[in-house]
Amino acid sequence: MERSVPDDFEQMWADLAPVGRSAASGGYFRQPFASAERELMAWFVEQADARGLRLQVDGFGNVVAWWNAGTGPGVLTGSHLDSVLDGGAYDGPLGVVSALEAVDRLRSRGFQPARPIGVSVFVEEEGSRFGLACLGSRLATGATPWSKVRELTDRDGVRLVDAMADAGLDDDDPQPWLGSDAIRYFVELHVEQGRDLVDRDQVVGVASRIWPHGRYRFDFSGEANHAGTTRMEDRRDPMVTYAMTALAANKQARLAGQRATFGRVETTPNSTNSVPSEVTAWLDARCDSGRALTELVDAIWRQADERSQRDGTRVAVTPESVSGAVDFDPSLATAIAVDHETGPWPLIPTQAGHDAGVLAMQGVSSAMLFVRNPTGVSHSPAEHASLPDCLAGVDALALTLERLSS
Ligand code: GLV
Ligand code: MN
Ligand code: MN
Repeated sequence: MERSVPDDFEQMWADLAPVGRSAASGGYFRQPFASAERELMAWFVEQADARGLRLQVDGFGNVVAWWNAGTGPGVLTGSHLDSVLDGGAYDGPLGVVSALEAVDRLRSRGFQPARPIGVSVFVEEEGSRFGLACLGSRLATGATPWSKVRELTDRDGVRLVDAMADAGLDDDDPQPWLGSDAIRYFVELHVEQGRDLVDRDQVVGVASRIWPHGRYRFDFSGEANHAGTTRMEDRRDPMVTYAMTALAANKQARLAGQRATFGRVETTPNSTNSVPSEVTAWLDARCDSGRALTELVDAIWRQADERSQRDGTRVAVTPESVSGAVDFDPSLATAIAVDHETGPWPLIPTQAGHDAGVLAMQGVSSAMLFVRNPTGVSHSPAEHASLPDCLAGVDALALTLERLSS
């Protein structure tokens, strides 16, 4: 990745493709403050330099490359470069690469913005390392105070504050800075993570809202014992309680028309011929209203509790990352969606979390553009968007930036 001239979309995409990709699965492992993600951040800095953009690195590791034009609070666009474990290529990077390309297009057309335009990269959007979704934007906006998260640890026991220091981020007292006084608009372009646009035969959509969602740690405890000599009726097996809870979560979500997933499980001592002593599993729940989310999680918790009494085990539940419903400003979304040669872009809700949701909750007028994903698959190596659709997304973003910064 040794370049000093700005790359175009295809070249940028080719630059990023090998970084953090698993040869075995083709998926991406880009954990925040670790090597692949740091390489991407270095690439971003290089792209900003090649374009003569001014870099702003905040105390949390979020980076903005500013096109210093116009005056007043800027228009921000961008996304994230970290991935879930074994994630797809597009979730995050598509928004960053499209933002750089959109700025290039505006500049090559001689467009003179009335406001500065910044391309942002937020750290740990996925919460895949420290468990808190949209960590970088939460900290930059002050939605979550630094004091509450600095001691969070990853799966290896590394503290956030130490991971950041290892990455050269050692501000003792990093401060939030991102609010409506600093930023007039934020627009995040993102690959669609469902099939709404495919079903509507549309390439580009605009987000109407984000479902409330949360992550909850379920700690099941029982008694370690011999897998052969312990009679079935004598066991206190937390794996059984967990298994029944996973089934209950699936059933409750189906009954309620909502979403519930156990995607991560750890068991102790993780021994084939032992009844485990502990099972920890993480529930990801997403609902169309805050009330439905509370009811769903309560129902799953209750069933876990009832089952633990039958199994002679215990269960404790800890919410780790909860995000409320986000209704994007309908007048902004509608203004972005209307007046196109191909007709209005559809307004669609999403069940995925995004930094744009955090900014919107913190009072920054925010919007999202989605680009069609032919299979709708995401958080998987199979995630995809065609090149023509990506370029149509860049057109849509450039037009949106032009309007918002005029
Ligand atoms: C982020 O992609 C999330 O919704 O989990
Ligand atoms: Mn994303
Ligand atoms: Mn994601």
